[in-house]
Amino acid sequence: MKGLVLAGGTATRLFPLTIVTNKHLLPIYDRPMIYYPIATLAGMGIREVMVVVGGKSVGDVVELLADGEHFGVHLTYRYQRGALGIAHAIGLARDFVGDEAFCCVLGDNVLLGPPLATAAREFETGPWGAGTLLYEVADPERFGVAELNAAGDVIGFEEKPAEPKSNLIPIGVYFLRPDAFGVIDQLVPSRRGELEITDLLNHYLPGRLFARKFDGLWTDAGTVTSLIRAAELAEQESRSGHLIAPPTRPGT
Ligand code: DAU
Repeated sequence: MKGLVLAGGTATRLFPLTIVTNKHLLPIYDRPMIYYPIATLAGMGIREVMVVVGGKSVGDVVELLADGEHFGVHLTYRYQRGALGIAHAIGLARDFVGDEAFCCVLGDNVLLGPPLATAAREFETGPWGAGTLLYEVADPERFGVAELNAAGDVIGFEEKPAEPKSNLIPIGVYFLRPDAFGVIDQLVPSRRGELEITDLLNHYLPGRLFARKFDGLWTDAGTVTSLIRAAELAEQESRSGHLIAPPTRPGT
C-alpha cells in the first residue's frame, strides 16, 4: 500500500498563527504537527509516501521532512495550488499511486494508540471500494458526520451539517483504491468551493465502504482549541511511555 499526507490548505482558522507559516509545522507537544500523520502511515507498514503541500512555507516543510529516511519512509512531494478541497488534493496523487491501494491521512490529524496495520490489511484484502475510521465526538457539526441505520451500518456522510445525524465522524484517515481518481473527476465543488471527501466516500455507499471505529485517542489540530487538546493528549501519551521519540533531522 502507498501513503498520502495532505498538508495543503490555508489554515485560516488558526490565524494569526498561520499567516506566515504552514499549519503543519506548528508544534504539538514536542514535535511538528506533520510528524504525527507520517508516523500513522509508517505504523501501518507503509514505506512509499507522498506529501501534498500547499499554502505557506512549503520549502520549510520539505527541509524538515527531507527524503523521509529518518521516519523509515521514502517521501515525495506534490504542490497543490489553492485550497480546492481534500478530494482535490487526493486527486493529485494519481500518478504516484499507480495501481495500488493507498491510505491518505490528513496533515492535521493526530492519532494516538494502536497501529493501524490490521485495518489497512483488512481494507486491502477485502471487497471494499473505500474506507475510513469513525470516532465519537461532542461537536460533530465541525466535521464530516456519519448517518447510520438501525443495524449500525453507515448509510451516508454529510460535511459539517447544522443538524448532525450522529456523534460519529469520519476522521482524516481514508483507505482508497485507484478507481477513486475517476470518481474525483466527476465530483463538483461544494458551496464552499471544495471537492469534499464526504462526497467521495458517499460514492461507495451502500455496501462498498469499510468503516471501523478507531479505539485509540484522536483529535484534529485545525483550531486553537483542538491544537491545545492535541498537545495535551500527546503529553499524556508521552508520560505513559506510548509516544515514541521524535526522529531527529537527517545529519543531526
Ligand atoms: O479531521 C477530520 C475532518 O477533516 C473530517 O471529519 C471532515 O470530513 C473533513 O472534511 C476534514 O474537515 P476539516 O474542515 O477539518 O478539513 P480542513 O479544511 O481543516 O483540512 C484538513 C487537512 O487537509 C489540512 O491539514 C490540510 C489538508 N488540505 C485541506 C484542503 C481543504 C489540503 O491539503 N488541501 C485542501 O485543499
